[in-house]
Amino acid sequence: MANDRTAQLLQARELLHHTWGDIKPHTCLICGSGWGEIVEGLSPVSSISYEQIDGMGRTTVEGHKGNLWLAKPAGKEVLIFQGRRHFYEGAGWGPVIFPVLLAHELGIRSVVLTNAAGGISEDLAAGNLMVISDHLNFMGSNPLIGQVPHPQIPRFPDQSKVYNPNLQHKICDAAKTIGLDIKKGIYLALSGPTFETPAEIRAFAKLGADAVGMSTVPEAMVANGLGMKVAAISCISNLAAGRSTQALRHEDVQKTSEEVLPKMTSLLVHLLPSLTEG
Ligand code: HPA
Repeated sequence: MANDRTAQLLQARELLHHTWGDIKPHTCLICGSGWGEIVEGLSPVSSISYEQIDGMGRTTVEGHKGNLWLAKPAGKEVLIFQGRRHFYEGAGWGPVIFPVLLAHELGIRSVVLTNAAGGISEDLAAGNLMVISDHLNFMGSNPLIGQVPHPQIPRFPDQSKVYNPNLQHKICDAAKTIGLDIKKGIYLALSGPTFETPAEIRAFAKLGADAVGMSTVPEAMVANGLGMKVAAISCISNLAAGRSTQALRHEDVQKTSEEVLPKMTSLLVHLLPSLTEG
C-alpha cells in the first residue's frame, strides 16, 4: 500500500474515532447521484465533511454533497458516504476508491453501492430500481492497475461473484416486504463524462448490458479484491440514449431520483439492519 495512502487511512480512522468514539459499523453505504437525500431517513447521527478527510477531497458534481455520516437505522451503526468521487473528475482513482479502503480499515465487511443509471433493457423504465447481478467494465481502465492499493488485494483477483448472491437475495426480500417491484440486471460502466450515443447503446444491448452508468464498478472491484461482501443498486433515472427522443441531461437524472427517493429510502431502511445477520 502506498505510504501516503496508508498515512491518509490511519489519519481518517483516527478522525472518525475522535469524532464518534469507539464505533464498530458493520456496513457502509456509498450514495450515488440522487441517493444522498436518503440519509435523512436512516437515523443519521452526525457528519464529517469530505474536505476534512485527506484522501477524499471535495466533490465536484452537482447532487453529490460530500459528507461522511454515521447513522443508526434500527440501532445498527452504518457509515454513509453522501456523494461519490468519479474517475471523470480527473483526480485519478485515489478519491474514487478511498471510501472502500477506509471502510475496510474500520473493520466493515459489507458494502452497499448505489448509483443512477440509464436503462438499456426494454424491461427497464425510468424510476425502476435494479439490483446489479454482474457488471461489464468499459471504463477503459481499472483501479487495480499498478501497485495494488492494499496488500490484501491479490495481483489477479477472481471476479466470478463480485456481487454477493446472499446480499442480492436480501435486497429482493427487503423489496418484497415493502411491495416494491425490483429488477435485476447487468450494469455497464463507462468513464463518462459524456453520455452515450444511440449506436453505443445498441451495441451494449447486444453485449448483454441492462443499464449503463459512470461509477460503482471501481468500488466493487476493490471491495471484492479485499474480500468484502458487495451489493449494488441502480436507480434507473432515464432511458438510455436512443431509447427515447429526449436529450439526456444531468438535471433530469437528479429529478427522477428525487421522485423515487421514498422507495429508495424505504428499501434501505429495511435492508441495512438485515445485513448484520449472516
Ligand atoms: N448514461 C450514463 N450514466 C448515467 C445515465 C446514462 O444514461 N443515467 C444516469 N447516469
